[in-house]
Amino acid sequence: MCGIFAAVSETSVTSALVGGLRALSYRGYDSSGLVIAQRTGLQRRRAPGKLDALSSLLKEHPLEGFVGIAHTRWATHGAPSESNAHPHMTPKVAVVHNGIIENYSALKTDLESDGYRFNSETDSECIPLLITRNLDKGLSPEAALREAVATLEGSFAIAVIFASEPNTVYAARLGSPLVIGQGAAGHFISSDSIALASVARNLCLLEDGDVAKVSVDGLVITTTHGETTHREMKALQVSEHDQGKQGYRHYMLKEIHQQPEVVRNTLNHYCDNATFTLKDEMFPANLERFDRLSIVACGTSYYAGMVARTWFEQYAAIPVEADVASEYRYRESPLSPNTLSLFISQSGETADTLAALRYTKEQGLSCMSLLNVDTSTMAAESDCFLRTLAGAEIGVASTKAFTGQLMVLLLTALRMAKASGRLDVAAEKAAIKALFSLPVGLSNVIDQLASLKSVAASMMQSEHALFLGRGTGFPLAQEGALKLKEISYIHAEAYPAGELKHGPIALIDDSMPVVLVAPPGPMMAKTLSNLREVAARGAKVILISNHEGIELASDHITHAIEMPDCNPILMPVLYTLPLQLLAYHVAVLKGTDVDQPRNLAKSVTVE
Ligand code: F6R
Repeated sequence: MCGIFAAVSETSVTSALVGGLRALSYRGYDSSGLVIAQRTGLQRRRAPGKLDALSSLLKEHPLEGFVGIAHTRWATHGAPSESNAHPHMTPKVAVVHNGIIENYSALKTDLESDGYRFNSETDSECIPLLITRNLDKGLSPEAALREAVATLEGSFAIAVIFASEPNTVYAARLGSPLVIGQGAAGHFISSDSIALASVARNLCLLEDGDVAKVSVDGLVITTTHGETTHREMKALQVSEHDQGKQGYRHYMLKEIHQQPEVVRNTLNHYCDNATFTLKDEMFPANLERFDRLSIVACGTSYYAGMVARTWFEQYAAIPVEADVASEYRYRESPLSPNTLSLFISQSGETADTLAALRYTKEQGLSCMSLLNVDTSTMAAESDCFLRTLAGAEIGVASTKAFTGQLMVLLLTALRMAKASGRLDVAAEKAAIKALFSLPVGLSNVIDQLASLKSVAASMMQSEHALFLGRGTGFPLAQEGALKLKEISYIHAEAYPAGELKHGPIALIDDSMPVVLVAPPGPMMAKTLSNLREVAARGAKVILISNHEGIELASDHITHAIEMPDCNPILMPVLYTLPLQLLAYHVAVLKGTDVDQPRNLAKSVTVE
């Protein structure tokens, strides 16, 4: 939610700032802007809309300099207009902000009563105005910044540049991530390490309360109390694979194609590929002491949790509750002491999931997270965390992170089953051996699904779509509906197929495509009965099933997406692919912005 990038360099920073914003665009793309320090003062360029609008503006009105701050915005307070775009500034100071200032209304009233005028509807603008008021009182730039920061409530990562100190950028954080990169040409500040890949070799993470001063003389980090502190510089590790689209038309397509590799990496990390056993030491100790599991997450991560609920119950015989974090955090559900709470998040920054984690910790319960970003706030605040090995996910619609989550959840369920004596060695080996066949299976399915384009063409004019499934097929249907609606803007809903007759069947007519997820197994025949019910009412039926399922329902199907026969343990991951690719192709045909769908941002750090 909003990306910050700043640079202090021996060479002109404009292209580094724009490059940094491009890498951070997944965090929000409603508007962008930058400020560069020049001899004549702080100069600003801002543009509503995607980053290309700012690039065009910079072509018309170039701006060069050696020190600058930049921002890409996901609108919270105020419309995505130029006046609400960051940086916000006064003649004395400019600020970019990621986060939410919760006491903004009180600060605004206070500043306005002192004659300080707001030019935007944002909460962020109170920061440059607070700093300016402190400067007007005679404080030094650093003292003015510290005093302003001390009055802010909520979460923030900020980068600040003063007209009177044009060779310096200050940065501060509380609750929102901020990374400092060191490169051959200078220092760079970013919301995320991936944006540093092309300019920095080493990086350090700022901690809550830190204030960093980055100048031509180097980097100094101080704590809230002003004491100099040291944050370890580490070599920047952004896999080459994570950079750029590598020939794919969209990041989302690249990330769909990376899934076999994600699965392979996950298996190699958590399993021994010689003995086909779990590496027990990769999982938290004493998992068997828990008698309940509470899974909390948002969006796609929640659907991964919903799939995994079946695995934990089936393999480990442990009762599971799964909640969306925005509900769980206010539900005041009675929590028993032997409950393991599991928080799932790609970013590790999602505000509701983080709040749910904090709430659970306050209740004294064990909190484990499943995260794709090791350096995230949830990683720091959880009692322990498991890693998904998806690598950086740039497409706003999550794909490979979901697959990575499914894999680690499945392996954790097996580990819990093993720890409680419910999975013997032979069953463990059989399961892990089957899983090692998954990367090749996924690659084969990706190759075979080229035919999906014609299915997508048949759906692109639809205004609505229904997704149905049973068992793990239901959360997969939910994920398929989410993918379709978020990138193609077609209204899509998912229902457990058995619920159809309790209401949603009234929606069915010949304009309604119905996607059925019907893998082989005990539920297939029942799902195919539901298929016949919607077909009888004129729906366009799209069936995702194996050869047998398609044969059984052949008279009623408009489009069949045939999946290979497979070990049931592989099914949820394999059946994810057609759902992702269907949404992708519909969006491409409709010409929407696949990687940056409207109104969305990759990490939702506001409630
Ligand atoms: C959908 C999507 C979102 C996220 C959700 C949670 O494609 O990406 O629904 O899954 O915002 O994000 P994380 O997993 O970062 O907590």
